[in-house]
Amino acid sequence: MEQNARKELTPTQIVNELNKFIIGQHEAKRAVAIALRNRWRRQQIVDDLKEEILPNNIILIGPTGVGKTEIARRLAKLANAPFIKVEASKFTEVGYVGRDVESMIRDLTDIAVNMVKSEKTNEVKAKADELAEERILDILIPPVKKSVGIAQDGENDTNNDAYQNQKTREWMKEKLKKGELDNKMIEFDATAQSAFGMQVLGPFGMDDMGINIQEIMGNIMPKKKKKRKTSVADARSLIAQEEAQKLVDMESVQKEAIQRAENTGIVFVDEIDKVASSGGKTQGPDVSREGVQRDLLPIVEGSNVNTKYGVVRTDHILFIASGAFHVAKPSDLIPELQGRFPIRVELRSLTEEDFVKILTTPENALLKQYSALLETEGVKLEFTPGAINEIAKIATEVNEQVENIGARRLHTILTSLLDDILFEVPDKIPSEKVKIDAEIVKQKLDKIVKDRDLSKFIL
Ligand SMILES: Nc1ncnc2c1ncn2[C@@H]1O[C@H](COP(=O)(O)OP(=O)(O)OP(=O)(O)O)[C@@H](O)[C@H]1O
Ligand SMILES: [Mg+2]
Repeated sequence: MEQNARKELTPTQIVNELNKFIIGQHEAKRAVAIALRNRWRRQQIVDDLKEEILPNNIILIGPTGVGKTEIARRLAKLANAPFIKVEASKFTEVGYVGRDVESMIRDLTDIAVNMVKSEKTNEVKAKADELAEERILDILIPPVKKSVGIAQDGENDTNNDAYQNQKTREWMKEKLKKGELDNKMIEFDATAQSAFGMQVLGPFGMDDMGINIQEIMGNIMPKKKKKRKTSVADARSLIAQEEAQKLVDMESVQKEAIQRAENTGIVFVDEIDKVASSGGKTQGPDVSREGVQRDLLPIVEGSNVNTKYGVVRTDHILFIASGAFHVAKPSDLIPELQGRFPIRVELRSLTEEDFVKILTTPENALLKQYSALLETEGVKLEFTPGAINEIAKIATEVNEQVENIGARRLHTILTSLLDDILFEVPDKIPSEKVKIDAEIVKQKLDKIVKDRDLSKFIL
């Protein structure tokens, strides 16, 4: 099916793809590439051994803003896999108020369902569009009713009417296709989206059982038809959506989604270090932290989780945990959990050269983003190599002096640097070219950088 048809990337290809967005961190890229490929390899095994092969869960260790989350996010995109990012510190042990760890699997399944649903909807899009067109034509030119006896002058006329009707319909269809009727208003029957337009909140813990009250109520209440009046253009997309929904078989969507979550799902557990006990010095809260780890264990190890779409097995879901591990160390996690994350990779702090590359080379590089923004106003934004070096240098300095927030520093520095330009375009800087060189960067930022108090607030 779909999944086999898509070309599976080899580890080298995965790393190459990641290189398009993430600078450096080669070891981490390698580790995730192997983990991803191993899952595919496992799928190819035919005998029972397949079930024995466990995913290579990974812990990414490194300071803030060096690409941990970004690597996982890009990886999931590459794999076209259901992906969810959760924060370990947000969970509480069962029995305490807060989200239980199983909810991450339910959320992952939701994501998988949406993914599969939108794929299937895309597959039927052409058909749905066509059906929508026909429905709109029916409204614009109601079909001739054959057996109605308005025509007193005999059969010929009815035939003639039918012929005329057909002709007009074809003519209208042309116009509709060309979008010439887009602004015309029409009235049509819409299936009311939801019986009531408010969110129903269940009692505490309902979410934990994977029960969706709204959905139950929605199924009990009859689907209402509602007259709506909109432009033809809007009606077209609304009706097409409705038709698409009818064409997609939700049951098979759910089945495929569960499969996909089980076999290709990726759960990114951020801030895992926050639930590690820090060297056993403090007591109190550590009890519940360890509780979270104990709850996490069966899920990472492989268990069945009830979701509203059915039972999801977690055995082969890939878990990538991440944390700075400044205070606690991976060895402070409970031993069983450590064992479930056999691969440890350290991500390095970013250097000034890395910053230069991050600013310019990734496909989504910050400078490219700002250039694209200003180009919409007809302004060409240009940075000289000197300016880029200067920005990288300042970012490194501020990271050293104030706080190391990694590549995120580039964001704050660029917003300060470009603040005036972004404000003055298009009123005061109407068009053409804005060139930023090292001098301008220094002028704009030097004062802020020198004044530590100021840079604490601004950069
Ligand atoms: N190595 C890198 N290459 C390119 N961009 C990067 C790199 N590291 C970080 N960035 C950029 O910095 C931002 C923050 O990175 P990311 O979210 O991956 O940080 P993190 O390591 O997960 O930090 P935290 O521990 O705070 O969660 C991202 O938006 C990304 O664009
Ligand atoms: Mg992160």
